[in-house]
Amino acid sequence: MYKIAVLPCDGVGPEVVREGLKVLDVAARKHDVQFETIEYDIGGERYLRTGEVMPDSVFDELQQCDAIYLGAVGHDQVKPGILEHGILLRLRFGLDQWVNLRPIQLYEGVETPIKNKGPKDINFLVVRENTECLYVGAGGFAHQGTPMEVATQTMVYTRQGTERIVRWAFEAARRRAARRSDADIAAAAWGPTEQDRQAGRDWRGVLHLVDKANVLTYGHDLWTRVMAEVAPEYPEIKPDHAFVDACCMWMVKNPEWFDVIVTCNMFGDIITDLGAMIQGGMGVAASGNINPDGVSMFEPIHGSAPKHAGNNVICPIAAIAAAGMMMEHLGEQACADSIEKAIRRALASGKLGDLSTRSGVKTTEAGDLVASLI
Ligand code: IPM
Ligand code: MN
Repeated sequence: MYKIAVLPCDGVGPEVVREGLKVLDVAARKHDVQFETIEYDIGGERYLRTGEVMPDSVFDELQQCDAIYLGAVGHDQVKPGILEHGILLRLRFGLDQWVNLRPIQLYEGVETPIKNKGPKDINFLVVRENTECLYVGAGGFAHQGTPMEVATQTMVYTRQGTERIVRWAFEAARRRAARRSDADIAAAAWGPTEQDRQAGRDWRGVLHLVDKANVLTYGHDLWTRVMAEVAPEYPEIKPDHAFVDACCMWMVKNPEWFDVIVTCNMFGDIITDLGAMIQGGMGVAASGNINPDGVSMFEPIHGSAPKHAGNNVICPIAAIAAAGMMMEHLGEQACADSIEKAIRRALASGKLGDLSTRSGVKTTEAGDLVASLI
């Protein structure tokens, strides 16, 4: 019996979480997965009511569950930063969820704004480091409020933190490579050429380190060295590299060049919003905050969209996909596959429209459709 903590939080969070749980319920019953949910009332409303963001007692309870399912954080009447730090970042850091896994995949039937690209071209994983970088909150002000004011915000990388995420990304690339046929590899844009093969460079996947090592000469030099050290342990994966600005260009121009990307927290945040757009919008992009040895948390990557809250217009596919990722993480592969297949069929049916808030498809209808396809 899995104990799943549910944190719907703010804005449209509760609406999309409800659809995710609706689908999860059907899939779990089909595959005989037992789970109970414990819902926690935290978020902007509670903060405005009580002045409290997340009581320590809630944090302690979350530490005891098998997984956390989160809706969206952010409230239009609460100063930006309070809820983000008090809930999302507190959980990511406090539970040491050091992997932020964000699959960028264009499904059949979903429109991408990129001309002449289809599902075969847009299918990669972003492995975002989730506990370091600019997010550690190191910095401060000097001479605040005077003309001499100085603001600093420091990027922090540890050797251990960098190595564990690079290794995890290589492992993820290895798992993807193991599922690939020779024909897939021959057709892949990054696949080895005849010359590569003759030179013994016969890789079956590629891992791009995305950094800014040309400017961030200390922090990203560490990433570059770690990548070079770990790569030989994964001979079937080609280690590659892109500067983050060029990566943004290629994600639009040649998304088929990417298989797995590993990157720091800040760049991972930015490129995955771009990734969400090329895979069809915020309505489909899901993520997992993973602690491989602890409690992990799954969420759509979109925010709380306060202006749409309560209107039943938000596409819940991202939240449903996040529930699928949660099942996969818990080792319930059949249940996860069921959810993924139902999402694919729902999207391919064209019945979900353009997935935007103007699609005319209600949040609840989209959830019903996916649930009916399990
Ligand atoms: C995300 C969000 C968060 C982040 C915010 C809400 C703190 O943008 O999950 O990508 O920056 O990580
Ligand atoms: Mn973000």
